[in-house]
Amino acid sequence: PASNVASPADTSAPVSSRARIGARTLRTDRWWLPPLLTTLGLTTFVVYATVRSFMRTDYWSAEHHYLTPFYSPCLSDSCVAGSSHFGTPIGELPLFIPLAFLSLPFLLGFRLTCYYYRKAYYRSIWMSPPACAVTEPHRKYTGETRLPLVVQNAHRYFFYAAFLITIINTYDAILAFGGENGFGIGLGNVVLLANVVLLWGYTLSCHSCRHVTGGRMKHFSRNPVRYWLWTQVSRLNTRHMQFAWITLASLVLTDLYVWLVASGTISDLRFVN
Ligand code: FES
Repeated sequence: PASNVASPADTSAPVSSRARIGARTLRTDRWWLPPLLTTLGLTTFVVYATVRSFMRTDYWSAEHHYLTPFYSPCLSDSCVAGSSHFGTPIGELPLFIPLAFLSLPFLLGFRLTCYYYRKAYYRSIWMSPPACAVTEPHRKYTGETRLPLVVQNAHRYFFYAAFLITIINTYDAILAFGGENGFGIGLGNVVLLANVVLLWGYTLSCHSCRHVTGGRMKHFSRNPVRYWLWTQVSRLNTRHMQFAWITLASLVLTDLYVWLVASGTISDLRFVN
């Protein structure tokens, strides 16, 4: 808004070129606040997820069959008994390899190359640019045309992998209804289920999913099913940023809940059985 910007009256650049302004910005509002909050939010998640992924304790509640998404799928002999829903085709893993080493790189790649997160960390961490009308510290702009940023174009492949992993997380959440004593419902089930619903929201609202459902089509009228799918995905897509943040929170809260229950710090609130 005009009230947030100091008068640029002293600039006399030709209309066709950029204004020659010495200051980094003429903005006088707190333009640095959104990038700062974004950096804090992303850093908190990365630190928490890294620490938990290497801990190797309290990721599975044997009593209620709750498995945290940070350890799914658990495919190695190092996984605690019961937590491997797909067997253990992989032998013991050294401590420096997270037990979910097969899924974590894909999930990380999916989030890192996500169209929304790109915008978020380009502006906040990379400061390119940090805000509208604020000069960026970098001299050159090469876009996403060379390494490492050219990898951003692989987003659709990460989407396929993430889609499969969300199916696995859903399977884990369903299995959690059958604990040591048979069928039951506890707060942990609600947490795990809410988390997968939100993960589906994030995964299906992905821009690549929108392209998979409705891209490269010349006639919507000849493909009514794909058109319907594309319409639903497009609706979700308008909320993609919200899903991106909500799922970071839901992943942490789900993991934290399983951690607290599995370690015996709290007992699961039971509704049935
Ligand atoms: Fe964000 Fe695909 S997950 S655009």
